[in-house]
Amino acid sequence: MQKILVVLLALAVIVIGGYAGMRQTVTDSSKQQNGTTSNVFDKKQFSLDNPASLWVITNKQRQLQPKSYAPNDLVVPNVELRLASSSDEMKMRKVAAQALEELFVGAEKDGLHLMLASGYRSYTYQTGLYSHYVKIQGKTAADTQSARPGHSEHQTGLAADVEPANRKCEIEECFGALTEGKWVANNGYKYGFIIRYAKDKQAVTGYVYEPWHLRYVGKALAEELSKQGNPTLEEFFNLEAAPDYP
Ligand code: DAL
Ligand code: ZN
Repeated sequence: MQKILVVLLALAVIVIGGYAGMRQTVTDSSKQQNGTTSNVFDKKQFSLDNPASLWVITNKQRQLQPKSYAPNDLVVPNVELRLASSSDEMKMRKVAAQALEELFVGAEKDGLHLMLASGYRSYTYQTGLYSHYVKIQGKTAADTQSARPGHSEHQTGLAADVEPANRKCEIEECFGALTEGKWVANNGYKYGFIIRYAKDKQAVTGYVYEPWHLRYVGKALAEELSKQGNPTLEEFFNLEAAPDYP
């Protein structure tokens, strides 16, 4: 009797083990069929709506909710600053500030000296800034360059306008053609940043090319976007294009 039990047990081990092995083989071969491991990027890791999410997407069609949202973990990054460190505009959310510090160190290693021109901007501050642009350019032009309050990535504390430390091409399109501008475009993803307002994407993002405006989204998403040839956030997440306000 004991012998029979041992034999049955051994058979069970062989059958179950063989089945598990077969399953493994099937999984492996399905990975090999298309030549890649099936590492599909999970687009639902973070909220696109929560203003405190690293992936929050605000544009002309997507006002921050609540519109007067303010982050609660703002700090001043330890980098060269355009304004006094007491200015709120020199702050960013902690995770983005640390990433910006690393990006500046990386640029420095390549002989490039960067400066933070503008980080966090509150709802109230953006109200004044947008009105200023409307006054000097008119509403139509202002809307292609400056977000209305409640619609700016700067209000999330995850955006940074950068410039060379000598302030050449400050918040100007020519920044994109400078060594510094090319460096941030090519290397930003390694630190979790993207160029949010790409060239020729105004019909999608609502804004003209802003080579200086970096948006922190975290390394995983920034790397994925880079791998895919830098689609806009709207394109990547299949959101409505946002050329205009509702
Ligand atoms: N310049 C960008 C669009 C902003 O004002 O947030
Ligand atoms: Zn900006």
